[in-house]
Amino acid sequence: MNTTTTTKNAGPEHLVELTNLVKRYHGRAILDGISARFGRGQITAMIGPSGGGKSTLLRSINGLNTIDGGEVRVGEHRFRPGQATDREVLQAVRRTVGMVFQDFQLFPHLTALGNVMEAPQQVAGKSRTAAEAHARELLKRVGLGERCDHYPSQLSGGQKQRVAIARALAMEPQVLLCDEITSALDPELKHEVLDVLADLRDDGLTILMVTHEIGFARRAADRVVVLAEGKIVEEGPPEQVIDRPETERTQRFLKNVLG
Ligand SMILES: Nc1ncnc2c1ncn2[C@@H]1O[C@H](COP(=O)(O)OP(=O)(O)OP(=O)(O)O)[C@@H](O)[C@H]1O
Ligand SMILES: [Mg+2]
Repeated sequence: MNTTTTTKNAGPEHLVELTNLVKRYHGRAILDGISARFGRGQITAMIGPSGGGKSTLLRSINGLNTIDGGEVRVGEHRFRPGQATDREVLQAVRRTVGMVFQDFQLFPHLTALGNVMEAPQQVAGKSRTAAEAHARELLKRVGLGERCDHYPSQLSGGQKQRVAIARALAMEPQVLLCDEITSALDPELKHEVLDVLADLRDDGLTILMVTHEIGFARRAADRVVVLAEGKIVEEGPPEQVIDRPETERTQRFLKNVLG
């Protein structure tokens, strides 16, 4: 596959690319030379043991933390050590990349609709009318067309998480980063959130998700990446990585999580 090929509308085949990425905390390499490419319109599931660096990797992609070595490319934007504080690059990257967290982080004083309308108006300068029309469309798309006027306290965890996804989509990102977004949900509610992600991928969104849902990764991810102790220890299609892992580290991790 030739990643340097670009077509006018689609851009490079890999929307996000990490080259020898290093992130240190207190002198310790938390990300220890990560090189990876995330395919456009694919779900990549990132799995691995606690403390392995998964959240740090996601945060490095949208500039929530600085990096100490290597390069992050998001679409046509690149940043290297020291540059993550460059406001223009950061803003461009954040326009391209949306992020959803485990704990939703919805504004409690705003309705579902208000939550989704907020950033397009405040950050992107959209008119109220345009922001509302788009927000209603997005809430419908995540199956919450009937819940626009509900406050977060009136929604289930799965519904709150779907509002958070709609809110991220309101800024029209090309990439969605998801950090364990179903971890706080009852098993019953997890699948409604995971189904939304699979639908969004089918509509062309690029999704990079950290997850403990090995079953979902097996079923719906296009690629699986295993991150442990700051390194990618294995990657490939789910039927390979999950069903026939080649490295001892992946085998041990899967044994621990699958019981
Ligand atoms: N801001 C920080 N300051 C210092 N150390 C940090 C910071 N953020 C993360 N770390 C350390 O980096 C390592 C990786 O953390 P990270 O949160 O990326 O792991 P993770 O793979 O997401 O784990 P989990 O599955 O538990 O969420 C941990 O040892 C953590 O203590
Ligand atoms: Mg984490």
